[in-house]
Amino acid sequence: MTTSAVLRVSNISKNYHVPSPILSKLRPGALRRESLTALDGIDLELRAGEILALVGESGSGKSTLAKILVGSVEASAGQLDYRGLPMPVRRGRDATRRIQMVFQDPYSSLNPRITVGAILAELLKLHKIVPRNEVRAESIRLLNLVGMQEEALDAYPSQFSGGQRQRIAIARALAVRPDVLIADEPVSALDVSVQATILELFTSLRVELGLSILFVAHNLAVVQHLSQRVAVMYLGRIVEVAETAELFANPRHPYTQALIGSIPRMSESSVNLELVLEGEPPSPYDIPSGCRFHPRCPAAVTACREIDPSLTAVAADHQSACLLANELPAFYPVATS
Ligand SMILES: Nc1ncnc2c1ncn2[C@@H]1O[C@H](COP(=O)(O)OP(=O)(O)OP(=O)(O)O)[C@@H](O)[C@H]1O
Ligand code: SF4
Ligand SMILES: [Mg+2]
Repeated sequence: MTTSAVLRVSNISKNYHVPSPILSKLRPGALRRESLTALDGIDLELRAGEILALVGESGSGKSTLAKILVGSVEASAGQLDYRGLPMPVRRGRDATRRIQMVFQDPYSSLNPRITVGAILAELLKLHKIVPRNEVRAESIRLLNLVGMQEEALDAYPSQFSGGQRQRIAIARALAVRPDVLIADEPVSALDVSVQATILELFTSLRVELGLSILFVAHNLAVVQHLSQRVAVMYLGRIVEVAETAELFANPRHPYTQALIGSIPRMSESSVNLELVLEGEPPSPYDIPSGCRFHPRCPAAVTACREIDPSLTAVAADHQSACLLANELPAFYPVATS
């Protein structure tokens, strides 16, 4: 663990046991369940004052990891440390306050029945952030932090645009003075024209408040100019992690190469990886043997079907979970701008 790590995830796994209609048909009379591996031995650290991007295809486990970090989902195994100490499974009010979440959908994440002022006041009072007579001034300060004005206090969430609602949701997360923000695809539901302004807001919060931010995204293009480091997820594993410029210049996992190679083909909010990767994403019910990426990997050799590569250092502050990380040719065109 680096001394500057705010959060450290060690060997965290998450399995879901979901009802299986097929198994239940085979043995009638009992509801059979099958196990789905959403996360499989995740090691990752979020460093003080950084934006760490977490990127991967749909279903790779990004939201599950985000929820474990904020404490809304319990890991099946592994440990989460906050500033060098184990985070208790049942978090007290103070532990809850320190790590806050910003969701993808600002429409459903704000209570539509109360004003923005009431949303902020509720939290400020509950957590006793300021004396009661300073609640209004603190609410205005929070709105200003996210680029909004005092008038917003008396309005309802429905009176704002998507981008403004996301700003309000961020102000709400900031109300309890966290030092970590977990942002789960916070711009994916917004118009492209608005996305850039919200990304700028995250940058200014990092710089001005010294926040540490885990920023979840579907695609690399969104985070290229935002994050200090990037962690790439594939089917419940981190397969590569590096400083952002290094990752783009020198990707050491074929999946990362494919993500970067697909950037010019990206639509507004998603990436069409089928265009560059062979085959369907495998099922989390049945993780492939050896390297889980091998059925789709253009570089796969026989050993890849048998050996499950762990995340290993390939350069300074750069790790890859590929057996051939040091001898990979570039399989996909790498977008550099
Ligand atoms: N509550 C749940 N019960 C059963 N399976 C779940 C549950 N939550 C997530 N999963 C499964 O766990 C896997 C990882 O899901 P997760 O939502 O973490 O992925 P994601 O990377 O956030 O995907 P997306 O980009 O679509 O948001 C998926 O296969 C998903 O279907
Ligand atoms: S270990 Fe083999 S299959 Fe896995 S990414 Fe590397 S080359 Fe591809
Ligand atoms: Mg998700």
